[in-house]
Amino acid sequence: MSAGPGAFPTPDEAALQAALDHLAPPGIRIACRALRAGDAAHLLPEEAGSITARHPARRDASVAARWAARQLLKAHGLGEAAIPRAPSGAPIWPAGLTGSLAHDETMAVAALGRIDVMGSLGVDVEPPEPLSPDLLPLVVTAADRLPEPSDLLAARLVFCAKEAVYKAVYPLDGQILDYGDIAVDLPLRRATTRSGRQLRLFICTVPRLVVLAVMEV
Ligand SMILES: CC(C)(COP(=O)(O)OP(=O)(O)OC[C@H]1O[C@@H](n2cnc3c(N)ncnc32)[C@H](O)[C@@H]1OP(=O)(O)O)[C@@H](O)C(=O)NCCC(=O)NCCS
Repeated sequence: MSAGPGAFPTPDEAALQAALDHLAPPGIRIACRALRAGDAAHLLPEEAGSITARHPARRDASVAARWAARQLLKAHGLGEAAIPRAPSGAPIWPAGLTGSLAHDETMAVAALGRIDVMGSLGVDVEPPEPLSPDLLPLVVTAADRLPEPSDLLAARLVFCAKEAVYKAVYPLDGQILDYGDIAVDLPLRRATTRSGRQLRLFICTVPRLVVLAVMEV
């Protein structure tokens, strides 16, 4: 996956893309883009009104994720298709497709699949760092299952999984879920929401934490 007009992939980008190429099940593609100052210049006019973040770094990240998504859309003959933001925050995909976007401090990720194959999907990316101990009681509950012995890095993975699940489920149910509304089973790579939605999890831990949550039709 190239890094953009006139640019080679950064080493971090190439390493993450290599991991992502092995992550997704058939029918779903994932791409990444290292955040670059000035990426907001790639915002399409049809997206500009919906991407209202004022902080330049946040706009760069939103556009980097969309840039990655457009690399995936090219496979469907839709390279320059716009991906505006709904008022809920969810991305709006071209007809027949579904996907998800995420960004952390250094990397943006996009996942895309056909809607007749996937009911919905969500993705999240996080640095491979332990969860802050302050957040542990908020994020991990008795309903979650972690590998034994466990640690705060596994807890960060649970956080990442719950964000991915939320992004997959919100467009269908329109409900704001809390961490306690999602039960994650890391060993079985499955998640269940309080409303009964069941999702499969596809997990990458190196070089960054990436979770793809997939709800099949
Ligand atoms: C969706 C949410 C979890 C994203 O978290 P974040 O750390 O801000 O940002 P991420 O980089 O992980 O993801 C951002 C992307 O999520 C997507 N997104 C935002 N709201 C969404 C929604 N309601 N449904 C699906 N996707 C959504 C957008 O594509 C967004 O990218 P953009 O801002 O460039 O358009 C957060 O914005 C949110 O709405 N939280 C409220 C509910 C919550 O936190 N519950 C606890 C976790 S289960």
